[in-house]
Amino acid sequence: MNAKIPNIVIFASGSGSNAENIINWSKERNCYRVTAVFCNRKDAFVHTRAERLGVPHFTFSPAGFRDNSIIYNGVQRTLTDVLSELETDYIILAGFLLKVPGYLLESYPERILNIHPALLPSYGGKGMYGEYVHKAVIAAGEKESGITIHLVDNQYDHGRILYQAKCPVSPEDTPETLFEKVHQLERAYPEVIEKYIRG
Ligand code: GAR
Repeated sequence: MNAKIPNIVIFASGSGSNAENIINWSKERNCYRVTAVFCNRKDAFVHTRAERLGVPHFTFSPAGFRDNSIIYNGVQRTLTDVLSELETDYIILAGFLLKVPGYLLESYPERILNIHPALLPSYGGKGMYGEYVHKAVIAAGEKESGITIHLVDNQYDHGRILYQAKCPVSPEDTPETLFEKVHQLERAYPEVIEKYIRG
């Protein structure tokens, strides 16, 4: 008998390139199923990507996310009930900028993964996201940067590290060129998720 394919839900806040990579990978490999994308911004491009890829996508407010009380299909629900209804096994943060509240960490222990665009523990923490990370790395004159994929705990960018990959930083790099290098490394995320889920 075949084992059940794990269900994952993606949380994102922005463009959604990582979400798109994960959805495409899941379809090619049939290793996990992306049942929904949740985003805290109605106008984020991740909605367009999810729509194109045929994955249901929803918006919750930051306060609703914090308080476990969201509007889902026009009805007020707890996020945890909605995630249970979707038979969620793992939550994948893909460019998601809100702090994960305790109630979710308790519901999904060691089952929430995040990707960060730097070599943690450096250049992590509140306010360290996207271009701010790359600006800080360049301003500090670092010779290398990279990505970190880690479990989520109750501190920003802090939980157990599952995977890191590096790229060189040269004196000519700008936040934009460094973003591109890091972006290439981020293509590893779907496979790292697959390996973690497989155990
Ligand atoms: C990615 O570079 C991701 O590593 C970063 O946001 C970007 C989202 O891009 N995440 C963080 O900074 C989290 N602290 P995307 O929306 O195109 O996937």
